[in-house]
Amino acid sequence: MSATERSFPSNFLFGAATAAFQIEGAAFDDGRRASIWDEFCREPGAVINADNGDVACNHYNLYRDDVALMKRMGLQTYRFSTSWSRVRPDGGAVNEQGVDFYKRLVDELLDADILPWLTLYHWDLPQALQEEGGWTARSTADKFTEYALTMHDALGDRVKVWTTLNEPWCSSFLSYTAGMHAPGHYSMREGLLASHHLLLGHGQTVTELRKRDETLDLGITLNFTVADALDPTNPADVDVARRLDGQHNRWFLDPVFRGEYPADIVEDFRAVDAAATEAFESAVLPGDLEKISAHIDALGVNYYHGDLVSAEPPANPPTGGDAPTDRRGESAFPAGHGHSNERGLERTSMHWEVQFEGLNRLLQRVSTEYAAPAGTVLYVTENGAAYDDELVLTDGEPRVHDAARVDFLRGHLGATLDAIDAGVDVRGYFYWSMLDNFEWAWGYEKRFGIVRVDYDTQERVVKDSGREYTRIIEARSLDL
Ligand code: NOJ
Repeated sequence: MSATERSFPSNFLFGAATAAFQIEGAAFDDGRRASIWDEFCREPGAVINADNGDVACNHYNLYRDDVALMKRMGLQTYRFSTSWSRVRPDGGAVNEQGVDFYKRLVDELLDADILPWLTLYHWDLPQALQEEGGWTARSTADKFTEYALTMHDALGDRVKVWTTLNEPWCSSFLSYTAGMHAPGHYSMREGLLASHHLLLGHGQTVTELRKRDETLDLGITLNFTVADALDPTNPADVDVARRLDGQHNRWFLDPVFRGEYPADIVEDFRAVDAAATEAFESAVLPGDLEKISAHIDALGVNYYHGDLVSAEPPANPPTGGDAPTDRRGESAFPAGHGHSNERGLERTSMHWEVQFEGLNRLLQRVSTEYAAPAGTVLYVTENGAAYDDELVLTDGEPRVHDAARVDFLRGHLGATLDAIDAGVDVRGYFYWSMLDNFEWAWGYEKRFGIVRVDYDTQERVVKDSGREYTRIIEARSLDL
């Protein structure tokens, strides 16, 4: 290694991530039934181009090829989710054919010497359970634990790393309050109840899995915002940053690590909707917070971008941002979320700003304030960027020269090393995503993969970013 290289610790894992609904397809094969996302995709205006998950990357049928590709790319671990709608299609009886798919996938990964990293819930609730109230119903937390134990019955001998939930902020507030994700509701009350029942499902599941096998690595993955106040001397800007941090980060970190909801944010919610907050408070039963704060071994950190926020709208707001329109034409988010500002950073095709050092700061803060005191280690479980990639022929070979994504990957791996140098116990990094896939309300328009997917032919082409990742993994270092 030369003086211009920075190496990764020997225990550091390099991986890539996907999620069932975004890649599997085969939406109604072998006994799978509709999830809330299958339903939502059929609602006019909910998803750009009315795209859906019926075929996606056809990973359900192509998983062997996909695992072989991961091996060729040198991935040490693969983070995927299992589909509740395949495994317990109505939330109740087990569908063995669905379970078998994950047995085959895990066997394939183990044969390829790739560590399977299993996420139990990446947003695809069985529609039948939504009809009983979805995550607003406490019973869904119990059903979730039952489904988790089904997966453990099937895979507990081979899968050692289990993540309960992926980004519960999205499956509660973005889904039940802001209407942007399935089931597309606009209710403060529902978002608050959903957040609590998701966390309850997490805590109960950790406890039950731990009882079965104390050697498992158990955790949760949260999505974080790194909000900086435009003017740190302006109390109104500082307050906007506090709210964003509170509603996205602390609302989940505090119950998981401290067994309490952040009091300032409860009061913010009360000021917006007193009845909803009261319903939430009545839903938090004695003992719930003890369950939610069961010890976890790993905290998954998903980080995509920074945000420079102000209370007043900026004179020159960031341009672009082709987010799917709120189907009601307005947002149900409580006031006080403030406005985004430009600070001259590059933006991805999601119009998210690229801010490497935000990841370093986030890892340090989450470690110091929450994870390290609890004996929990950190993994970057998602980090990635969508760009308008172009497929070209170079020396007769199909290639994608995605230089911006190469920079994105390298910059964030550098920020991860900065955090490690500062003493943070970060054990791995997963690029989002292994494959271009169904980007929820944006459909197939946004391509996040280090591997390009041609949705007509299902051909995969490793992008330059994928080639660069392989080079870094082989060297286990970042050359500067
Ligand atoms: C987070 C989610 O977990 C994933 O499903 C999504 O595709 C990426 N962010 C990109 O938006």
